[in-house]
Amino acid sequence: MGYLDAQAGDGGRTAFRRAEKKYKLYKQSTTHKHSSCRSRMEIPVTDLSQVIDFERIRDGDGVTRLDHSDFPVYALEGHTGFFFIPRAVPHDQQFHWIREALTVFPEPPNRTSHSAHYGPLFGLWSSATKKRVLSPTGPENGDLFVRKWEFADPGDERKQEGVVSATALLRKLRWATLGVQFDWSKRAYDISIPYRSFPPALSELATKLASPAMNGDQFRAEAAIVNFFGPDDMLGGHIDDMEADWSKPIVSISLGCKAIFLLGGETRDDPPVAMFLRSGDCVLMAGPSRRCFHGVPRIFTGCKESDLPDFSALAMGEIKENVAILDYIQQSRININIRQVF
Ligand code: OGA
Ligand code: MN
Repeated sequence: MGYLDAQAGDGGRTAFRRAEKKYKLYKQSTTHKHSSCRSRMEIPVTDLSQVIDFERIRDGDGVTRLDHSDFPVYALEGHTGFFFIPRAVPHDQQFHWIREALTVFPEPPNRTSHSAHYGPLFGLWSSATKKRVLSPTGPENGDLFVRKWEFADPGDERKQEGVVSATALLRKLRWATLGVQFDWSKRAYDISIPYRSFPPALSELATKLASPAMNGDQFRAEAAIVNFFGPDDMLGGHIDDMEADWSKPIVSISLGCKAIFLLGGETRDDPPVAMFLRSGDCVLMAGPSRRCFHGVPRIFTGCKESDLPDFSALAMGEIKENVAILDYIQQSRININIRQVF
């Protein structure tokens, strides 16, 4: 949570960190790019042969298919409480949730990765599509906490230097929170922070998807972190330990470009298993798996590698907004991570 780009900082001493290094995206540094020097560093080829692919599951992969009435659910040997539901969200619903994640979820009172710096920002998505820029309102010399920012059309008279565009802010958006808001400084959920109740349709979906991990109880979606990943982003290994009841699953929905997910053990010394996460896949972490390190070391944004479903039919009819959404998601991954907090 809020640890995109986080590094374990152990320099590869733990099994988890070694796996992150194995799978992370390596890029040729610019100094080497055009060099004819023979000793230039080669980009390591990532060995993906150990990555579990739930679309091509074979016997002996340590995976068991459960008898669940509505949809296929897989369990992982040695990881009690972990469940994988391939393509849990149907194709057309995926695009719906991508649209919600971009156009609705970052709106105040929901907090985002920009809130601490800018305060509430209204209309991030619509301002980006209209090429608007951020401009200060209120007292000129007020400090950052009282000064409010809003998006405005770039006027001729405004100095363009140093102006932050909505497009740049959208590209830099890393997370937004839904439902009960989280206070990062206190590392706790805080019901005194104004919040909008959890989106009912998403809550319904989460309750349905959580059922394999609920032993007959009903999951209550109370909060979610929506993570936005660009081509170079990763999510460092972590444990989500801020919720009161760890027996309740975390319901984690993937949208957009394919990624590698690492599921480790209770310490970073336990070697993690790697698996692909594709658009529409859902992961449940409940019971003992709720206490396990996990992370996302790699996003695949290339046309061939991203395994992005063909949403182009949905962007037909020149609906401008859909075209912009399609543009965004071709280079991005969105993760909706839903929790029962209380
Ligand atoms: C998280 C998380 C996993 C993912 O946000 O806590 O673990 O698939 N996300 O992005
Ligand atoms: Mn997590």
